[in-house]
Amino acid sequence: MDAQLDAIVVGGGIAGMVYATQLVDLAQGRPVRVRVLSKAPVQVSSSFAAQGGVAAVMRTEDSVEQHVRDTLTVGAGRNDPAVVRLVVSEGPALIRGLIGIGARFDANADGELDLAREGGHSAARVVHHRDRTGEEIVRVLHQRMTNTPGIEVMDGQRAIDLLVDGEGDQRRCIGVRAVDMRTGEVVDHFATHVILATGGAGNLYEHTTNPPTATGDGIAMAIRADVPVRDMAFVQFHPTALYAKKSGRVSLISEAVRGAGARLRGADKRPLMTGLHPMGDLAPRNIVARAIHHEMQQHAMPHVWLDASPIGSHRFAAEFPGIARDCAAIGLVPGRDLLPVMPAAHYLCGGVRTDDRGRTALAGLYALGECASSGLHGADRLASNSLLEALVIPKRAAQATLCEGLMAVPVPSRIQRTNQLASRTLELIPRAMATLTHTMTMHVSIVRTEEGLHQALREINHLDRQVRASWQRRRWSADMMDLRDLLTVARSVTASALAEPDSIGAHFILHGIRSA
Ligand code: SIN
Repeated sequence: MDAQLDAIVVGGGIAGMVYATQLVDLAQGRPVRVRVLSKAPVQVSSSFAAQGGVAAVMRTEDSVEQHVRDTLTVGAGRNDPAVVRLVVSEGPALIRGLIGIGARFDANADGELDLAREGGHSAARVVHHRDRTGEEIVRVLHQRMTNTPGIEVMDGQRAIDLLVDGEGDQRRCIGVRAVDMRTGEVVDHFATHVILATGGAGNLYEHTTNPPTATGDGIAMAIRADVPVRDMAFVQFHPTALYAKKSGRVSLISEAVRGAGARLRGADKRPLMTGLHPMGDLAPRNIVARAIHHEMQQHAMPHVWLDASPIGSHRFAAEFPGIARDCAAIGLVPGRDLLPVMPAAHYLCGGVRTDDRGRTALAGLYALGECASSGLHGADRLASNSLLEALVIPKRAAQATLCEGLMAVPVPSRIQRTNQLASRTLELIPRAMATLTHTMTMHVSIVRTEEGLHQALREINHLDRQVRASWQRRRWSADMMDLRDLLTVARSVTASALAEPDSIGAHFILHGIRSA
């Protein structure tokens, strides 16, 4: 029998690592046992891939008021203003904390933090490490996490469902059921507190900047356990992914590139954003993504262009080495060549509804990072606010778990189950996955219609019936688990979009237009 765990963290990205390390730090020597279950090594996470950085007020010329205003403007007022103020106010100290444990952020000649500019921000306020900010933060946090006694990290664990005990008001999350992908064994992990930090669901769409692991697992598990979600309609498309014909993950070209002077160009290579918004190329993401989508439709183009000549190829290679490498792989030199770019699914603004400490409506269950909806983002997310949230809310969640008590709730011991992993996938699964991503891309993406949303819902329900039947036969493959979760999230996104009669933020709906 296992010693009882205080907390299980599902997901090993930045939000999960901040929670685990803060819990041990804040416990101040009291013994704490935390298990981090992760599907894949942290190098595969969205956290690791984050290019731009962390938005925070780090200079006296900037102010909390301005950052709050920008966040509310981009979120179209659907944010929780108290959460916005709290995250914006508490963030800078946590960035200094990261610097204190060795994070290297870029500095200017005077030794001050070099702050980049991104869309929707009225000031340069993005703390960064060239174009690999996520990698740098992951480096220091991972080192700290693996050197902290009391934190056990288990990779290759695919969580499939929450374990819930009790009825009505007495319901409590007591653990998580997961498949060990190396042995195929299904294991129930029990703990006093369960923390979902599983990231987003970019793989709902044909093109995404997210890693293959972004399959909405935590959100789907919460939905199946009747835990409320919020703002699911608001899927943010990043305006500038490097064009690729083939479906799947696409390379991101950070908004910081436009912040450094690059300009979007449409058909005939004319500047695309001129006259469309006072902030031009640095307008909020939903506005830029829609302008690109419109241009592509109008001119039957598969992409528009990003002109980085105002930056120049030498400066580009020095400041954005990762992006320069991705472009070089297809024979392009940014600064010299126009770059073909298109929007791609990037961030789910909604998620499992939480308070400002990451607590969900189900006792014992927390949600953090992209899988959560704390109220910070509203109807669209201000660039680089997500890493800020992933520093602030997990620390508060760690404080909350300590207040609730560590061994407060007796939970069962670990149960071993038999191997339920299928040795090969069913033919149906890849086909159903392709249908799902095509349906979401056609009907539930940048521009939506009511008819298209209804059509998508019918298709999702049809696919779900097929997958449910296979699931119940109890031979699961990795892609079946992903599809099951993506379908759950797809239904929630689509239903949430249908419940929004008017366009707002990242949800744009055309009325009176028949779907293609
Ligand atoms: C980017 O670097 O453009 C992405 C940053 C973000 O999504 O916040």
